[in-house]
Amino acid sequence: MRLQVAEGTITGLIGPNGAGKSTLFALLSNFLKADAGKVRFRGRAIEKLQPYQLAQLGLVRTFQVARSLSRLTVLENMLLGGQQQRGEKFWQVWLHPQAIRRQEQELRDRAFSLLSDVGLAAKAQDYAGSLSGGQRKLLEMARALMAQPQLVLLDEPAAGVNPALIEKICDHIQTWNQQGISFLIIEHNMDVIMSLCDRVWVLAEGKNLVDGPPAQIQQDEQVLAAYLGLELA
Ligand SMILES: Nc1ncnc2c1ncn2[C@@H]1O[C@H](COP(=O)(O)OP(=O)(O)O)[C@@H](O)[C@H]1O
Ligand SMILES: [Mg+2]
Repeated sequence: MRLQVAEGTITGLIGPNGAGKSTLFALLSNFLKADAGKVRFRGRAIEKLQPYQLAQLGLVRTFQVARSLSRLTVLENMLLGGQQQRGEKFWQVWLHPQAIRRQEQELRDRAFSLLSDVGLAAKAQDYAGSLSGGQRKLLEMARALMAQPQLVLLDEPAAGVNPALIEKICDHIQTWNQQGISFLIIEHNMDVIMSLCDRVWVLAEGKNLVDGPPAQIQQDEQVLAAYLGLELA
């Protein structure tokens, strides 16, 4: 099987529960090691890179269950998403204090700008643990954007989110996409897939079943059979 995400697109990844979608994300983002196969990002083999190195290259992911750190504030969660923080090495702080301070200010500005994009600026100083499930999803997406990524992998961004917020999440994804960020999205909500995606890949039992434009996938008999658990003749 060969799955591709074209640069600049919003690509969907769908399939029945247990198909291996989240596992595929874990492989793409090197949270799991593959037994076989290759993963390339912008022409570069990335199997040996750590997740933080991938983030530095522009590839970040979110999780099916949002992983915000509840004992940190919303702002602190965002700052953790900022990559290439030179301030982490003490000798750099010592040698370049102004550069570090300027960089920290840039990160905070970026954090506030993204938080206001997703309507969470007023909650910047609240503990992430006090957010609703939907707000945590927004925080996780905004935090992923802190890394200034080229490609964001979103695992079920609409799951457990109320319909009004789902619409907002879709709007944000579309806006970020127009700014040049590509997305690969796992989602069970077909309205979300249909309205956002340029192309959809269907996974069933760990294999790629079909791929194509969403309108075509929606009518595909193999896809229907996979979802209904039917044997194909
Ligand atoms: N290619 C594979 N070969 C063997 N087991 C797999 C494979 N892909 C996924 N699994 C296993 O199948 C289960 C469901 O996978 P998961 O990725 O959570 O599915 P999904 O996100 O599509 O619901 C997990 O226990 C996972 O370890
Ligand atoms: Mg999953």
